Amino acid sequence: MTQDELKQAVAKAAVDYILPMLESDTIVGVGTGSTANLFIDELAKHKNDFDGAVASSEATAERLKKHGIPVYGLNTVNSVRVYVDGADESDEHLHLIKGGGAALTREKIVVASCEEFVCIADESKLVKILGDFPLPVEIIPMARGHVARELVKLGGDPVYREGVVTDNGNHILDVYNLNILDPIALEKSIDGIVGVVTNGLFAKRPADVLLLGTKEGVKTLK
Ligand code: 5RP
Repeated sequence: MTQDELKQAVAKAAVDYILPMLESDTIVGVGTGSTANLFIDELAKHKNDFDGAVASSEATAERLKKHGIPVYGLNTVNSVRVYVDGADESDEHLHLIKGGGAALTREKIVVASCEEFVCIADESKLVKILGDFPLPVEIIPMARGHVARELVKLGGDPVYREGVVTDNGNHILDVYNLNILDPIALEKSIDGIVGVVTNGLFAKRPADVLLLGTKEGVKTLK
């Protein structure tokens, strides 16, 4: 199976997983990226079975609307029953690196607001130790030099993601060569740097479930 076929399989599995949660007043949180896009296309087949969605990016909101799925602002809903999103890496504790698509801040906000976080990924994303994928950090533009110097002190090699402006008007540093043995501690340390908006470690609040697309079928990790 190709990577795209594995992503398609987990997108379908995610819809099957959340089907019992869908009621006329259910709000579904929806992530960003190629796997999340496939999930949106599958979710659209059930658009009459739930109220609507909260989107983690402008791109996701557009795709949901094109399918005729109502999109709500997070401040206008009482609860997000479930949030479904991809990841760049996951370890066995479902600690994640996210933000390859530069949507990490809104993703983390929706994760913080949801009742259940379902991560969907193909098997290439499961790793023993996080950090081969460079860690995205969203920063206030004027703080770039300061944040970069602080990230070097933490052992990383930050690289400015040229030409990218996030949905929040900010910039991204991708941090290479971090030895992420304690993801929760590192997430807190980076959050503590003045000028950092969000970092792409999702470890303080990991995924609740990982649906992993493998050649042997979709595996459920909790
Ligand atoms: C976007 C993300 C994505 O979930 C992550 O980059 C995975 O993307 P894909 O499903 O395309 O592999 O965090 O900010």
